Amino acid sequence: MIVAGSSQWLYYLERCRSVASDELQKIAQEVHTCKLCPLHQGRVKAVPGEGPIDAKIVFIGEGPGYHEDRQGRPFVGPSGKFLDELLALAGLQRQDVFIGNVIKCRPPQNRDPLPDEIDICTRTYLFRQIEIINPRVIVTLGRFSMSLYLPKERISRIHGQPRMINGRLIVPMLHPAAALHQPQNRPLIEADFRRLPEIMAQSEHTEQPGADDAEPPMEQLSLF
Ligand code: URA
Repeated sequence: MIVAGSSQWLYYLERCRSVASDELQKIAQEVHTCKLCPLHQGRVKAVPGEGPIDAKIVFIGEGPGYHEDRQGRPFVGPSGKFLDELLALAGLQRQDVFIGNVIKCRPPQNRDPLPDEIDICTRTYLFRQIEIINPRVIVTLGRFSMSLYLPKERISRIHGQPRMINGRLIVPMLHPAAALHQPQNRPLIEADFRRLPEIMAQSEHTEQPGADDAEPPMEQLSLF
């Protein structure tokens, strides 16, 4: 009896996983052909993001740079190399985590993303991806991704401090590029990453977020 019950449960879990995986792939395909904002005109490749559908932790950067735009993959340039080192400090590897960005296409001359670009891209893609993955912990890298969840905060004040928002622990961190360009930031970001295992363990004691309380409330988004 127990064996039959557990195998049915496993079958059910596998079906859910496969449906979620199909949905994540569908979003990636939509991203590749997206023309919802003018950024599509200048891109070589859109960068949907990548990682396992059951990742316990999601990292959100700002947007693709030169190397990401060429390869269609997130964080593959110098910031990505440093991100790999930071993940190692937290006992993590790339294959364990989902890495995405606020916007999926490289802005011209790497300029800051505009409010309308952020709004359409996150609503159409990023928040759907997060809902499917349903991570307990989200690490925002830099001020643009932090602002999705904590629009009124300053990253210099709250980096490394987890906040529970809609059932997920949001951990604002400096962007790896900030540490590359300003070496005095390096010890800060390294110390924040070293604390991630503790934060992830803490998240195990929280209830898994449900579909209804998933992404940021609309009034936060409309502040852009
Ligand atoms: N910087 C980001 O914010 N995202 C990337 O994917 C690469 C660099």
